[in-house]
Amino acid sequence: MAFTEISIRKAFTFLEPGPVILVTTREGDKNNIMTISWHMVTDFIPHIAISTGAWNHSFTTMMKTKECVIAIPGDDMIEKVVRIGTVSGTEVDKFKEFGLTPLPAKSVKAPLIEECIACIECKVEDYIEKHGIVVLEGICLWVDQDKKGKYTFHANGDGTFTVDSDKVLNYRSMMEKWIPEGV
Ligand SMILES: Cc1cc2nc3c(=O)[nH]c(=O)nc-3n(C[C@H](O)[C@H](O)[C@H](O)COP(=O)(O)O)c2cc1C
Repeated sequence: MAFTEISIRKAFTFLEPGPVILVTTREGDKNNIMTISWHMVTDFIPHIAISTGAWNHSFTTMMKTKECVIAIPGDDMIEKVVRIGTVSGTEVDKFKEFGLTPLPAKSVKAPLIEECIACIECKVEDYIEKHGIVVLEGICLWVDQDKKGKYTFHANGDGTFTVDSDKVLNYRSMMEKWIPEGV
């Protein structure tokens, strides 16, 4: 057997790599942003589960306003994304500090981020306190086609990041019954 048992504490590093995302919130006239790498899509609606909790100011706002925007940054934004995730919106205006542009969304007060590849307006549907899971429902999707050359990136869980590429493997014909109409 070639397997070597290593610490169970490293299991998440094999599962974590969804794209790193930004989550925006707005309370009164104050916009905020946080970085999230622990998230998953749970169905086609889509519902999206994000893992966070009361230690983040964004979480408090999300619980109050019941809404947020998920913004998907490209690899040109990696350093900003890391910095956004290391400072609290209670201390700084992260849009100003990191030179990002808030744009009005259609159905929520939280802003889109102009510099990102795509933005999903979301309503908070549920919070599972025991596991720190916020369940969101995506209600409106915006994609910037001009940002096609930018790649999403993944947190490896150890402070390093892997950038996606344009290498695409197509197995659609094998997966037809699992792909919703129009996707
Ligand atoms: C790469 C990266 C990934 C992160 N992923 C998460 C995450 O999945 N869940 C979470 O609660 N915090 C995560 N954080 C930490 C928050 O982004 C951080 O606590 C942020 O400063 C919260 O800002 P706020 O207090 O303004 O909401 C991550 C930070 C970085 C740099």
